[in-house]
Amino acid sequence: MKEDKRPYIILSAAMTIDGKIASKTGDSDISDEQDWKEVHKLRTQVDGIIVGKNTILKDNPKLHIKFYEHNGYYRIIVDSNLSIPIDSNVITFQPNIYPTILCITENASLERIKDFESKGVKILKAGKGKKVNIPELMQHFYNLGIQKLLLEGGGILNWSFIKKNLVDEIRLTIAPWMIGGKDATGLVEGRGFETMAQAPRFKLLEILNRDNYAVLKYKKNE
Ligand SMILES: NC(=O)c1ccc[n+]([C@@H]2O[C@H](COP(=O)([O-])OP(=O)(O)OC[C@H]3O[C@@H](n4cnc5c(N)ncnc54)[C@H](OP(=O)(O)O)[C@@H]3O)[C@@H](O)[C@H]2O)c1
Repeated sequence: MKEDKRPYIILSAAMTIDGKIASKTGDSDISDEQDWKEVHKLRTQVDGIIVGKNTILKDNPKLHIKFYEHNGYYRIIVDSNLSIPIDSNVITFQPNIYPTILCITENASLERIKDFESKGVKILKAGKGKKVNIPELMQHFYNLGIQKLLLEGGGILNWSFIKKNLVDEIRLTIAPWMIGGKDATGLVEGRGFETMAQAPRFKLLEILNRDNYAVLKYKKNE
């Protein structure tokens, strides 16, 4: 796969000062209203939003846009065995405006696939292993016309993108809490790199501060 045959990828998250995107119980109520407005504005600029299955199970988000006019986009969920509830908001809420794509592996049950397809959901198979093959998905997305993709977590999915150096830009809100907890979800989970030299490096483009929140924008250091 050629490097340019993939969407431009923006990672967006709100985290505590100590780098957590949810507490150990899964509380991710970190953004204030202004932050949500900015995130929704960013959503108007992309062709798709991708999240991991745990984010659907914990938050049941609609992944929609309030506050702004827009043309809709794909909601994309990475869920190897197609295990999210069929009545999740990403399936039932305004599918005509935000069509949903479920990315699965070859191992998902045919019956579940049919159930979801009957709700108008598009199924994309990528990978035969335990997890969805992320690089393989990129070509599919590109072919669907997804040129800009917003990666909205959680930490496990963020790692899968960072690991393959697939993040082009980052928009990060730092909220004024320290939540702690080794079981609280960090911005990037997974195994991590062994050294700084192996890790992708980013260039700081902008820092905004308001009401105790800081918003940081980074770009990949080419
Ligand atoms: N503050 C924020 O900005 C923010 C944003 C988003 C989420 N969150 C929080 O983050 C928490 C969830 O994050 P999380 O790290 O536990 O999970 P996650 O990243 O939402 O989902 C991870 C799951 O996706 C599935 N998956 C399939 N293929 C994958 C692949 N190649 N790479 C990675 N994942 C793959 C896996 O489940 P299967 O093996 O079953 O497929 C995996 O366990 C929630 O508490 C949510 O509230 C916070």
